[in-house]
Amino acid sequence: MKIIKLNAIDSTNTYLKNLSRETRPEDGLVVVANAQTNGRGQVGASWQSKEGESLTFSVFKSFNSLPISAHATVLFTTAIAIKEALEQLNISNIEIKWPNDILAGGKKCCGVLIENQLQQDTIATAIVGVGLNVNETEFDELPQATSLHLASGCIFNLDDVLQHVSKILLKHLSEIERFSSEEIKTKYEASLFKKGVVSTFETPNGNQFSGIIRGVKDNGELIVEKEQDVIKTFEVKQIRLLY
Ligand code: BTN
Repeated sequence: MKIIKLNAIDSTNTYLKNLSRETRPEDGLVVVANAQTNGRGQVGASWQSKEGESLTFSVFKSFNSLPISAHATVLFTTAIAIKEALEQLNISNIEIKWPNDILAGGKKCCGVLIENQLQQDTIATAIVGVGLNVNETEFDELPQATSLHLASGCIFNLDDVLQHVSKILLKHLSEIERFSSEEIKTKYEASLFKKGVVSTFETPNGNQFSGIIRGVKDNGELIVEKEQDVIKTFEVKQIRLLY
């Protein structure tokens, strides 16, 4: 596995995006930064991380003939892979909060930002950015955040965690075309935080409503039962699931 280690960069996702404009990065390339000055999160949010305590990295993956419709399968696979990698580090109670936050003991320890690059009718490559809280001991401003250390009591070597998580992630992404999208979706749904229980959702204008998560559609939308037998589906930018 080839890893490019940077001291400070705006964003490892942006770095790979720019690199792929100039040259074709090798499949499986990993870029890690000690610090990001413009770390990007989902739906236009920023991503803050603590130098020396957390991991911010992106992997570059090429696909042979993955249809554009499989974009959610890339997202599902990434979440499943990170969950598996963290479980192998003996972190317990790992769940996936829709769409692709990874929780340990009900709190977020990892966020993922996936940026696909399309060619004709296929996803030619994906840049999968991972922000993983590793050795942080406190999150004063973020009561719903945690780190692998807080979840397990152990102190981790950042390089070892990077190698381990990247390896499992790349393995799963390489196998994506071997499994049916239904199999991958079923596995993702099995780890979905708050599936089957009454949960609260918030719309971008601050309105809240409750409903029960029933699963996800092939395109990644969340299936919510708002009232008995009233099923609605939502895109990422339409709702946020509260903790
Ligand atoms: C989120 O939960 O909002 C997603 C956060 C993704 C953060 C990672 S850190 C490495 C990579 N580079 C970025 O700018 N973002 C991703």
